Amino acid sequence: MLAALAVTALGINCTANIRPRDASPIRSPQNIHSWLSERFAGLDIVEIGTRNGDGMACFAQTARASIAVEIDRPYCEILRKRAARLARKGTGNFTVVCEDYRKVRLDGDIFTWWEQAPFLTNQAAIQHLRREVHAGRVRPSAQAVVLFDMSWQDDVDSLKQLISQASRSRLTLALPLTDP
Ligand SMILES: C[S@@+](CC[C@H](N)C(=O)[O-])C[C@H]1O[C@@H](n2cnc3c(N)ncnc32)[C@H](O)[C@@H]1O
Repeated sequence: MLAALAVTALGINCTANIRPRDASPIRSPQNIHSWLSERFAGLDIVEIGTRNGDGMACFAQTARASIAVEIDRPYCEILRKRAARLARKGTGNFTVVCEDYRKVRLDGDIFTWWEQAPFLTNQAAIQHLRREVHAGRVRPSAQAVVLFDMSWQDDVDSLKQLISQASRSRLTLALPLTDP
């Protein structure tokens, strides 16, 4: 496993600056949120499946605009309160769309998620986004940033499947990370 710097070049350190609601591995690690947040700077971000917002609270600090899409209503309520708190503090802002991602029209530079079967799987999400691009509802430059937990066999199998399809698309592998 590769080690990652907790502090990025932009100085984004969500491990230190964001108090998480969930514990890892239920949520993705804070240091990958920091790492992504630097790469998301100035971009329009859509996170599919935001849960309690630990990643989104980090991304919203640098993104141009951020949308949290969440299917589970109790999480949506928590997310709305969290978004309002961040906006009051001036440490980022995000919009909450409380719906199944397949039922709403979304656009962004980046679509990011960590899959959770049965309603959010990598293959279905990628196929859905490709259809949306072809239909002109998602900008052609949009990129999918998919997270994988390498200790979870379903994620490992999904990653292998995506790698096998990589000749038809571009696959960039990021660092596997855990909370320090
Ligand atoms: C594995 S959690 C990932 C949470 C967070 N993004 C992270 O990385 O820690 C998956 C989230 O996706 C949500 N979800 C599942 N299916 C969905 C769908 N079809 N549309 C929107 N959200 C969905 C779940 O409620 C859950 O909050």
